[in-house]
Amino acid sequence: MTTDTALVLGATGLVGSELMARIYTYYKRVIVLSRRTVTMPYPNVEIHTIDFEYMDEYAALFQVEDVFCCLGTTIKQAKSKEAFRKVDYTYPLQAAKLSAAANVRSFTIITAMGSSSKSAFFYSRVKGDLETELQALPLHALHIVQPSLIIGARQEFRLGERAAATISPLLSPMLRGPLAKYRPIQASVISEAMLYAARSGLGGTHIYASDQLRIMAAQLKNNNN
Ligand SMILES: NC(=O)c1ccc[n+]([C@@H]2O[C@H](COP(=O)([O-])OP(=O)(O)OC[C@H]3O[C@@H](n4cnc5c(N)ncnc54)[C@H](OP(=O)(O)O)[C@@H]3O)[C@@H](O)[C@H]2O)c1
Repeated sequence: MTTDTALVLGATGLVGSELMARIYTYYKRVIVLSRRTVTMPYPNVEIHTIDFEYMDEYAALFQVEDVFCCLGTTIKQAKSKEAFRKVDYTYPLQAAKLSAAANVRSFTIITAMGSSSKSAFFYSRVKGDLETELQALPLHALHIVQPSLIIGARQEFRLGERAAATISPLLSPMLRGPLAKYRPIQASVISEAMLYAARSGLGGTHIYASDQLRIMAAQLKNNNN
């Protein structure tokens, strides 16, 4: 059943584009915030090209039911730790603050497996700092998705992801039980799990590892049948 309005940040990325391929069938209207002019072949999608430095100016667009944040970059792409932190911490946090102020029903975001403010790794620390700040906001529902390595059809070459995609079919059968969360996960599966989480009606904070994301994606499909 299609209901309400959703807002998506990071809609042009690997997970974001998988989300876009599905989300338009679940909502009457989908608003996308993008840093560049893009077109999408979906009937009910409204794309706003914005400068993320001035997200505050677009506060009115956050008057929606569900917000999905798939923003992210790499230090290689961003070219500095500061620029990386802006995309992976400052912008998502700003989006969450605007979502809380708009009293949205849910805010669903991808961070990463191993996120921790105490991590020795800069990447995981940035994600962990973000999670801590998000949990302090007055959001009705906060869904934090912590995937393992993401695989999918990415244009850009990323050695780690390409290698994982190659060995995944060999490795995955060995990663069972408590190790299942370490198995690489398809971007499409993450997008389905995000939809399931946002539409679950659950309040409060929920954090999901890859093994749970697979179950949620399957449940979304079951609900559709
Ligand atoms: N890759 C992995 O294996 C992995 C594992 C665990 C968690 N994660 C996390 O999962 C999330 C999604 O990953 P992904 O691979 O789908 O990301 P992705 O393909 O790199 O897409 C990132 C999105 O963020 C946008 N973005 C990047 N820099 C921006 C900027 N300066 N201003 C505004 N928008 C900007 C991109 O827009 P453009 O299209 O305009 O560039 C794109 O829509 C990220 O937070 C990532 O850290 C990734």
